[in-house]
Parts: sequence; C-alpha cells; structure tokens
Amino acid sequence: MHAWLCTQPTGVEALAWTEQPTPEPGPGEVRIAIEAASLNFPDLLIVQNKYQMKPPLPFVPGSEYAGTVEAIGKGVKHLQPGQRVACLTGTGGFATHAIAPAKLCMPLPAGFPAVDAAAFIMIYATSYHALVDRAQLKAGETVLVLGAAGGVGTAAIQIAKAMGARVIAAASTEAKCNLCRSIGADEVINYGDGTQNLREAIKSLTGGKGPDVIYDPVGGDFAEPAFRSIAWRGRYLVVGFASGPIPALPLNLALLKGASIVGVFWGDFAKREPEANAAMMGTLAQWYGQGKVKPVIDRTMPMADLHAAYAHMGSRGVMGKLVMVN
Ligand SMILES: NC(=O)c1ccc[n+]([C@@H]2O[C@H](COP(=O)([O-])OP(=O)(O)OC[C@H]3O[C@@H](n4cnc5c(N)ncnc54)[C@H](OP(=O)(O)O)[C@@H]3O)[C@@H](O)[C@H]2O)c1
Repeated sequence: MHAWLCTQPTGVEALAWTEQPTPEPGPGEVRIAIEAASLNFPDLLIVQNKYQMKPPLPFVPGSEYAGTVEAIGKGVKHLQPGQRVACLTGTGGFATHAIAPAKLCMPLPAGFPAVDAAAFIMIYATSYHALVDRAQLKAGETVLVLGAAGGVGTAAIQIAKAMGARVIAAASTEAKCNLCRSIGADEVINYGDGTQNLREAIKSLTGGKGPDVIYDPVGGDFAEPAFRSIAWRGRYLVVGFASGPIPALPLNLALLKGASIVGVFWGDFAKREPEANAAMMGTLAQWYGQGKVKPVIDRTMPMADLHAAYAHMGSRGVMGKLVMVN
C-alpha cells in the first residue's frame, strides 16, 4: 500500500508519499481499499499540530474516506469483504488502504458513488445535528448561513431547504454566492466587502426582523454583527472558526433578543449519543436516495496530488468539497 505519511506536524510540505507494508485488521477492525477521501478543515490543522486531536507520530492524515472492505478482523459481524463503506476515523484516509474500526464504517447502499460517500458524513451530520437537533428549526423560519459555499455551509443550505426554511446564504465572492443560489439558497449576501454590508443586507432581506437561526462556521469579525441582527427568540449556532479568531459576544444582546447561543459539537454528540446519531445518519442516507441532499464536489484530484489539494483548500478557494481519488 501507499500512504501520505506525517512524521513531523510542521505543515503540508513535510508530508511524504511512502510505500508501507499492507496491514492486517485486528479484532473489531476492517481493511479498506480506499476509492476516495475528502478534505475537511481539521485535515488542514492536524498536519500543522494546530488541531485539538494530536495523533501519535508518524500518522497518515485524511479524516474521511470511502471504499471497499478487503479483509475483516475477529468479531466483525456486520461487514463482509466486498462491501462498500464510508468511514470517518479522523486519520488514515490519504492512502490506498486503511485499517478502520468496523463500528465507524457506514455500509453504503447501491448507487452511492465513492466520491459522494467520502464527502458525506462530516458535513451532513454536523449540519443536521446543528439545524434539526440543536436549533429545532421549523418550516417557514429564516436561516442565515455564513461561509455558505464551504463544506458544512453547502450541507446547511440543503438541509434547511429540505426542512422548508427560507435560506439566506452569505459568502465572500460572487462565484460562491452563485453556487449557493444554484443549490437552493433563496437570497445571497456577498460579505467580501466586510461587516457593514453584512448587517445592512441582513436587515433589508428580513424586513428588519432578522434571521431566526444563524449557522456560523466562520467566527472572527462576522459573529458580532450577525448576532446583533438575530430575530427575537433567535438561535445562534456556534459551529466553527474557519477565519481564525474565536469571537466574544456581548451577553446583553442575548438578553435583549431573548436569543440563545447554541454550541454544536457533532463529534462528541456521536460518541455520547450513538443511537441518536445512528438514527440521524439513517435519515440522511434516505435523504440522499431521495435527492434532498447531494454533496457539492469542487473537484476531484489524484491522491498523489495532495500537496496541491491542500494549497487549494488553504487559499479559501474550495467551493463545497475537495475529494482525492485512487
Ligand atoms: N462543530 C462541529 O461539530 C464541526 C464539524 C465540522 C466542521 N466544523 C468546523 O466548521 C468550520 C468550517 O468547516 P468546513 O469543512 O466547512 O470548511 P471549508 O469548506 O473550508 O469552509 C469554510 C468557509 O469559511 C470561510 N472562511 C472565512 N475566512 C476563512 C479563512 N481565513 N480561511 C478559510 N476559510 C475561511 C470560507 O467562506 P468565505 O470565503 O465565503 O468566507 C470557507 O468557505 C471549520 O472551522 C471546522 O472545524 C465544526
């Protein structure tokens, strides 16, 4: 097998494409021949030692991937060699093969291509957990999605539309805004000019009332103006800080709007509430089959081009998901 190996987490340049002995799965594990692996934001951080999880060295990055089960370890009952699966294991995906805990593998229904499957779990699980479970979004409500052309943002647009909400998508370029419109956003805001434009645009698009739910994976300078615009009884979803700085919000604003600041941590939800998470993944797989959700694929690239893929993601240029293929 071949794998991108991180021996020093000093950045993307230190990753090397290496030949490795093909491993055998231990008890409860499976070996997967990887067809596709997508880039998620943490993949960028983990190779720079900036992510909360710090795997022992050396490690193979690549949080999420899809492929075919080649071999199963002792005690694995629900998977068979030849079965196609999607996995989110945190590391191991930027390779030709990976060993994964069987319980983290989602069997794929027929007609679920590997490229879509590798780009599915993280973004849809996060956005569904955020909008449905944490925000209790209702049909007819208005949702503002920041960073709306990114991975979790595109998923949030599709899920909110599937639930009958009105979606305002905010992103930094015209091309990103056009993409958001093409996948269902009712209105768009180009916030490439800064925060002043954002507040005015939210006000005019909501008739001064403000969005009922704000989905924020960006943080930084946009959080406070967005929160100042929220509707009475609004729910502000803290999803991530892609722009870098972690914002602070004046709590009097929450009081004045009767609004909630709601944390979203899908990874821990999946660990602490595995049954609820499994039910949610079942619904999302059904929605995929019904065409209600479909990953937006920015492009696919050969697995050997990982350095270029990281550069594209680091430049804030990706729309939807970037997927490496073997
Ligand atoms: N809480 C959870 O459970 C959970 C789960 C998954 C992901 N996340 C977090 O959600 C965030 C987004 O993840 P993602 O996979 O959607 O990432 P992504 O595809 O890279 O999208 C992030 C978006 O953030 C915006 N952005 C603003 N400033 C940026 C900057 N300096 N660098 C890069 N992007 C910037 C970009 O949109 P514009 O150019 O339009 O501003 C970009 O499209 C990350 O912080 C991630 O860790 C949280």
